[in-house]
Amino acid sequence: MSLIEKAVQRLDALKQAGADNIAEDKQRPPVADVPAAKPAAAEVPVRQRESSSSVPLADPMPTPNPAVSRQVDIDLVRLGAMGMVTPDLPRAAIAEEFRLIKRPLLSNATATGPTAIDNGSLIMVTSAMPGEGKSFTAINLAVSMAMELDYTVLLVDADVSRPSVLNRLGLPPERGLMDVLSGEVSNLGDVLLRTNIEKLSILPAGMPHPRATEMLASESMNRLLEQIANRYPDRIIVFDSPPLLVTTEARVLATHMGQVVIVVEAGNTTHGTVKQALATIENCPVKLMVLNKSREDAAGSYYGYGYGYGAEARSEAA
Ligand SMILES: Nc1ncnc2c1ncn2[C@@H]1O[C@H](COP(=O)(O)OP(=O)(O)OP(=O)(O)O)[C@@H](O)[C@H]1O
Ligand SMILES: [Mg+2]
Repeated sequence: MSLIEKAVQRLDALKQAGADNIAEDKQRPPVADVPAAKPAAAEVPVRQRESSSSVPLADPMPTPNPAVSRQVDIDLVRLGAMGMVTPDLPRAAIAEEFRLIKRPLLSNATATGPTAIDNGSLIMVTSAMPGEGKSFTAINLAVSMAMELDYTVLLVDADVSRPSVLNRLGLPPERGLMDVLSGEVSNLGDVLLRTNIEKLSILPAGMPHPRATEMLASESMNRLLEQIANRYPDRIIVFDSPPLLVTTEARVLATHMGQVVIVVEAGNTTHGTVKQALATIENCPVKLMVLNKSREDAAGSYYGYGYGYGAEARSEAA
């Protein structure tokens, strides 16, 4: 059975169990490890907002200096009150949920030898459609990972058309990724933000740019990612991204990633939509699915918010 068929079967099962019309949710534990594999590419037509015409970019980009220069303070009490992961509430249910979600991602990111994954420390959080919980998941994942002893984490707001990471964290807009790629900012360190969560830094999206897709696909982006990933081997980079089926940006971003987390909104995202989204990123080494906004109560019905990995989301040849 193919990856997509399994994913659809899993969603079918959830639907039958009452995943529709969800009101409130709970964590569902991972049901499988996620081994690295490299599936063949597949071409599935999706709507495109922009053409892929090549337009000259600000290149060559000056060599960025990844030194982090500025600190911002996240209101951790507010974060906790929003039901998000915070170091102040390590035993909260949401923290427990993300402990389970991050484990296979960290294990893949640090795998060595035959199980090593190219760019495994580059983790993109996406979904098929808007509003499925990408930003919520990316922020919680980044904070949860930053609470680990062994890792530093960079949270990149790569939803460059509709950035939300800073706003969600109660912080004002800042320059960021787009400004570096466009050449407006020559030093990466000028736009990286340290936070009061010791091991968490943020690269904001920066100014919206009409050629965002080309910029994300550019050699400058390759170099930027290489530099960030290679310079700090203990660093995990989590990308909040746009949805896969609405713009071309997410698919372009995915080409850089070692791991892609696909957030699926339980009871809302259709099977066809999930299939189409998966098909757009078939070349990514590792794909994991997080079922969001689902919860299983003692009687076996689903309600509310929560997460679960689909075993079907493991990357394998379809
Ligand atoms: N598991 C969850 N528990 C509680 N609230 C959630 C959960 N997942 C998402 N939400 C809420 O649902 C809304 C949409 O989530 P979010 O903004 O993360 O989605 P998104 O996929 O990033 O949307 P967009 O495509 O617009 O960027 C937000 O208000 C968020 O706080
Ligand atoms: Mg978002």
